[in-house]
Amino acid sequence: MVVLRLSVVVVVLLTFVQWCAYSQSPSQLFVDITLVKSTTAKDLGAYCLDGSLPAYHFSKGFGSGTNNWLLHIEGGGWCNDVKSCLERAKTRRGSSHYMAKGRVFPGILSNKDSHNPDFYNWNRVLLRYCDGASLAGNSKYEDGTKSLYFRGQKIWQAMISDLLPQGLAHAEKALLSGDSAGGLAVFLHCDNFSRSLPGNATVKCISDAGLFLDIKDVAHNDTIRSLFHDVVSLQGVEQNLNQECTSSQSDPKQWFFPQYLLSYIKTPLFILNSAYDTWQFHNILVPSLADRKGKWNNCKKNVTFCTDSQIQTLQDFRQKMLEVTYSFYTHSTRGGMFINSCFAHGQSLYQETWFDIDSPRVQNKTVAEAVGDWYFERKVTKLIECPYPCSASCYHSVPAA
Ligand SMILES: *[C@@H]1O[C@H](CO)[C@@H](O)[C@H](O)[C@H]1NC(C)=O
Ligand SMILES: *[C@@H]1O[C@H](CO)[C@@H](O)[C@H](O)[C@H]1NC(C)=O
Ligand SMILES: *[C@@H]1O[C@H](CO)[C@@H](O)[C@H](O)[C@H]1NC(C)=O
Ligand SMILES: *[C@@H]1O[C@H](CO)[C@@H](O)[C@H](O)[C@H]1NC(C)=O
Ligand SMILES: *[C@@H]1O[C@H](CO)[C@@H](O)[C@H](O)[C@H]1NC(C)=O
Repeated sequence: MVVLRLSVVVVVLLTFVQWCAYSQSPSQLFVDITLVKSTTAKDLGAYCLDGSLPAYHFSKGFGSGTNNWLLHIEGGGWCNDVKSCLERAKTRRGSSHYMAKGRVFPGILSNKDSHNPDFYNWNRVLLRYCDGASLAGNSKYEDGTKSLYFRGQKIWQAMISDLLPQGLAHAEKALLSGDSAGGLAVFLHCDNFSRSLPGNATVKCISDAGLFLDIKDVAHNDTIRSLFHDVVSLQGVEQNLNQECTSSQSDPKQWFFPQYLLSYIKTPLFILNSAYDTWQFHNILVPSLADRKGKWNNCKKNVTFCTDSQIQTLQDFRQKMLEVTYSFYTHSTRGGMFINSCFAHGQSLYQETWFDIDSPRVQNKTVAEAVGDWYFERKVTKLIECPYPCSASCYHSVPAA
């Protein structure tokens, strides 16, 4: 009797919880987590930082999209020393034990044509990020009591191996996407992805907010270079980088930067980035160490509070982004671009910035339309917006980085 009553309470409670989740967001798609098969993980040695199994969320394609595949690599920064990696290993960014069991699929992952006109009925997979080196490391740390798996490259391989027999092996169209650290992973893995699929498939890649620039910060320090250098050497990334690229760039500190990889990528690529990428602004251009007096604090909060010289610094940043992509812009016949002037970091996974009535536009195209035009070759799409403050379509709010 007690057991029965308890179970009734549990059922009622669960129903209530489900009802709440539903009533909050009736139109949102929740997709359950799938752990990489333990045999695949074991064969390859593919583990999250803490040794747990890597994971992804898979929503099946339907209708005309049944044989098409979109893989999106999640972002989430990097860890560049044992201490920060040990901390990360206790979070969802370093362990599948801490990942939520369901994920909302907005923007480029949405299953609704009104939210995602070109890819809504494809197989859509979100690859979770749990290595801290843009899925590119291969080494291990051990000091007796503590250990860390730096196995990003193996995780990448394991995810692909797991998905191939689920239909990816017969893909007709495919798109590898990713945002932030996942957008950097796209630059690193794009050609490998293309080689993993049938030779007659149409395979392309899009990097969202992954164009991390090799620049000095406002205190003339090489903040991002030293961060990337530490990630590459700690996690054993070097062996997995493009060999053509590493042999021509003599300085290993440069190997992780997309701007040097660009000309070696053979697969058609789309670069989506804000010219005033807020994560890069706050962490690469003006990291707090480079602004001890906090002269940039207000400007970081709201661009209307920036001084003229701060605006000039931001314009120089934009100019640098255009410079490093100039050759791609002029010569890449199958490439696409959308460099807008919004203060944002990542625009493909937010419905508001991907495809909505008042989404940011360049030449009247939303991000989703521009990416679709390029993927399906409806139109050559290389859109660069005029510099701030010309844009009328931006949210100048700074989303959480
Ligand atoms: C690719 O080739 C395979 C085997 O010949 C065939 O079954 C498939 O339909 C082809 N795919 C495309 C996109 O043409
Ligand atoms: C992708 O990269 C992995 C690791 O470098 C390699 O073992 C695999 O053979 C590559 N796949 C293809 C199809 O080139
Ligand atoms: C420059 O970088 C070094 C090494 O990361 C750091 O110790 C120092 O505080 C930085 N200086 C400034 C002004 O940012
Ligand atoms: C912009 O695009 C929308 C459809 O997305 C269209 O209705 C509108 O007429 C276009 N505006 C201009 C100025 O072309
Ligand atoms: C930025 O400041 C302007 C003017 O002070 C204000 O109108 C705007 O709402 C602010 N934006 C945000 C995101 O706070």
